[in-house]
Amino acid sequence: MAKSASFSCSACGAVSSKWSGRCDACGEWNTIVEDTPLSAGPASKSLGAKRGTTLTLTDLSAEETPPPRTQSGITELDRVLGGGMVPASAILVGGDPGIGKSTLLLQAAARFAGAGLKTVYVSGEEASAQVRMRAQRLGLGDAPVKLAAATSLRDILTTLEAEKPDLVVIDSIQTVWADNVDSAPGSVSQVRAAAHELTSFAKRKGASVILVGHVTKEGQIAGPRVVEHMVDTVLYFEGERGHQFRILRSVKNRFGPADEIGVFEMTGGGLAEVANPSELFLSGRGDPAPGSVVFAGIEGTRPVLVEMQALVAPTPHSQPRRAVVGWDGARLAMILAVLEARCGIPFAGLDVYLNVAGGIKISEPAADLAVAAALLSAREDSSLPAETVVFGEISLSGALRPVGQTENRLKEAQKLGFTSAIVPAGGKPGGKSGLTLTQLGDLTAFVGDIFGA
Ligand code: TYD
Ligand code: MG
Repeated sequence: MAKSASFSCSACGAVSSKWSGRCDACGEWNTIVEDTPLSAGPASKSLGAKRGTTLTLTDLSAEETPPPRTQSGITELDRVLGGGMVPASAILVGGDPGIGKSTLLLQAAARFAGAGLKTVYVSGEEASAQVRMRAQRLGLGDAPVKLAAATSLRDILTTLEAEKPDLVVIDSIQTVWADNVDSAPGSVSQVRAAAHELTSFAKRKGASVILVGHVTKEGQIAGPRVVEHMVDTVLYFEGERGHQFRILRSVKNRFGPADEIGVFEMTGGGLAEVANPSELFLSGRGDPAPGSVVFAGIEGTRPVLVEMQALVAPTPHSQPRRAVVGWDGARLAMILAVLEARCGIPFAGLDVYLNVAGGIKISEPAADLAVAAALLSAREDSSLPAETVVFGEISLSGALRPVGQTENRLKEAQKLGFTSAIVPAGGKPGGKSGLTLTQLGDLTAFVGDIFGA
């Protein structure tokens, strides 16, 4: 039987029937590679069909309900996992090379082992001696974690069958190769096959498996998105290389809330938990300056205060620049358009730079008003009243819309010594926040009230 070729994108895993230079699904260039099929399965006559069993939800007796979660004691990690490690679960931890994934997982492995889980750390990138050296440097030299240096899937599974661990860390999935898959290690088919075998091992044996995945730019090496759909939980470890802050964010979690974050600081002795991220993100802030506005945001279940910084300057170019770090470029264009169309404040001929301080990425629409405030403050060269936080969504009409969790945002601001807040009218501040609230109905009122323009 003639077999038609199939191609897939090594960045997002999208499958197509023909090769192209650019992936239609995610827009990345040079990421489409030909799939090599898994080697032929068993001949049809040897397919032993076994009748499965079904049960109703109420059939699950107490002994069949899974054992409870295990906490590592690293609060920031346990919260992102949804309250601890669930047995028989598969977790993907993605992130740029060098961001600190191995460090985080070695620390987590040591803590989980200390909490009673039989833990195996399989490294395909470093020799066991190197992993041990790192562990010693992190002060975890005597943690009861078993180390293995292996890249062959067959060897890894054999080791795991023998060890019967409760928790396995595979660092990284791109180094694991299956000898029955006829393509290079790191390719889409290899990564898929390895992830599939390891997640089935997790389900079959009741072990938790953590797969590390490097975010890659090269087309020949598959990225972590290729296995996102196979695992229960997807976490990304992010941060700016130059900053010491690292954020562990859950983008998918079958056992807990998505979009939860854990904040860490990279220190000489490994990753340290940051219990109060707002304090850290605002730590570099001096006196109120034009273009600087504090946004009271919510990340996951937690309020986080961050500083939005804007710079607006006449452009020497025919096409003014719009550069954004930590926020969405399209959303910035929208705010600029609303300011121009609804409030008559043009940004043509001006370069606009927006930066979220501290290296955190903000995706909430609630940041709209803080961004608009930072842009206006930079443009007018006048700073907002001191100790003020700002939040609210801006609609295309220029109206300000209330956002969720107003009370939590205000409480966090008060805790950090802020005295006033600029918020959309109609929100439910609920209770007494102790802050002086300026409630505004639309952006024009904001421009008039705050900047007297
Ligand atoms: P690593 O965990 O190896 O990253 P990944 O596995 O994501 O590729 O961490 C790499 C960086 O972290 C490296 O540049 C050095 C830094 N680092 C520290 O600053 N302190 C430490 O204690 C450790 C172990 C690493
Ligand atoms: Mg590593």
